[in-house]
Amino acid sequence: MTQAVRYDRYGGPEVLRIVDLPTPEPAPGQVRVAVHAAGVNPLDWKLRSGLYSGGKPLGKPAGVGFDFAGTIDAVGSDVTGWAPGQAVFGQTRPGAAATHVLADPAALVAKPDWLSFEQAAALPAPTEAAHRTVHMLDIKAGQRLLIHAVAGGVGLVAAQLARARGATVIGTASAERHDLLRDFGVTAVTYGDGWADRVRAVAPDGVDAVLDASGRGVLKESVELAGSPDRVVTLADNSAADHGVRLTTSGQATIPEVFAEVLPLMERGDLTLPVTATYPLEQVAEAHRISEEGHLFGKIVIVVA
Ligand SMILES: NC(=O)c1ccc[n+]([C@@H]2O[C@H](COP(=O)([O-])OP(=O)(O)OC[C@H]3O[C@@H](n4cnc5c(N)ncnc54)[C@H](OP(=O)(O)O)[C@@H]3O)[C@@H](O)[C@H]2O)c1
Repeated sequence: MTQAVRYDRYGGPEVLRIVDLPTPEPAPGQVRVAVHAAGVNPLDWKLRSGLYSGGKPLGKPAGVGFDFAGTIDAVGSDVTGWAPGQAVFGQTRPGAAATHVLADPAALVAKPDWLSFEQAAALPAPTEAAHRTVHMLDIKAGQRLLIHAVAGGVGLVAAQLARARGATVIGTASAERHDLLRDFGVTAVTYGDGWADRVRAVAPDGVDAVLDASGRGVLKESVELAGSPDRVVTLADNSAADHGVRLTTSGQATIPEVFAEVLPLMERGDLTLPVTATYPLEQVAEAHRISEEGHLFGKIVIVVA
C-alpha cells in the first residue's frame, strides 16, 4: 500500500487527509520513487485553496506537492538510464506528499551523496523559478538586482545565482531577516510603506533589474527604480500587464538543465537553500499552514521516510 495526502474539496489546511491507496505501478516510460522527503511550496496551498479553480468544485480527490526526493524502487518498460536503488530528486504532478510517486524521468536528477534527501526535496520549484527569472533578466557582472521577498525559497536561490554571475543584490525582507541575509551577501531593506526610499538610500543610482517574488503591489515603483518595465519580472503579481511587466509562470529549461547549472554551485559552497523546519507526513496540514502564513526563511519540507 501507499500512503498519500489527498483532499476532496477546496479549502483550508483542514481538508488534507492521509489515505491508503494501492501502490501505483509505473507505466511505460515512468519510474516509481519511494519518497523520503517532499517540498512544500506556495503553489501547493494556492491549488488546495481553490485559487485557480475558477469557482468550480473539485471534480475528484487531488494530491498535493510537486517536489520530492527519494529512491527509485520500480522502473516501467522503455525506461533507460534509471534503475531501482538510485537516489533521485525532481518534480511530478501534484502528489509528491506520499510514500510513493510515479515520475517522468525527464523531470528527475540523480541526487549526489553530499546532498541530503531533505535538502534535495526543497530545491526543484524555487530553484527552477529563480533560474528562469535570473536568465530572463539576463543578470550580468556589475549589475544591481533588487529582489522582493528575498528571504523566501525563490528569493534566496535567485540572490545566490545573481551573485554567482557577479551582480550585487538588494532585497526586501522583514527586519529580523536582515542579519541572516547579510550572510548570503544580500543588502536587505524592510518591505512595506516607504520601501522604495529605503532601496534608494542604499542604491542612489537605482537598480538594473527587479525580481518580484512577493506579489505585494510593488511593480509601479519597481519600474521607476529599474528605469523600464523590461527590466522587471514578477512571479506573483497578476496586475503585471497594467505596468507593462512580464508575469512568468513557466520556463523552457528542464529540471535536469536547471540543475546542471545549479548543482556545481552547490557543491562548491556558492549556493545553498536552508531547510528551516521538517514535518512528518501526518503534519502536512501544519506545514501548509506555516507556508501560507508567508514568513518563511528558506524552505520547509515534509519528511516521509
Ligand atoms: N509563477 C511561477 O512560476 C512561480 C514559481 C515559484 C514561486 N512562485 C510564487 O512566488 C512567490 C514566492 O515563492 P517562494 O517559494 O519564495 O515563497 P516563500 O518561500 O513562502 O516566501 C515567503 C517570503 O515572503 C516574504 N514576504 C512576506 N511578505 C512580504 C512582503 N510584503 N514583501 C516582501 N516579502 C514578503 C517573507 O519574508 P519575511 O519572512 O521577512 O516576512 C518570506 O521570506 C509565491 O507567491 C509563489 O507562489 C511563482
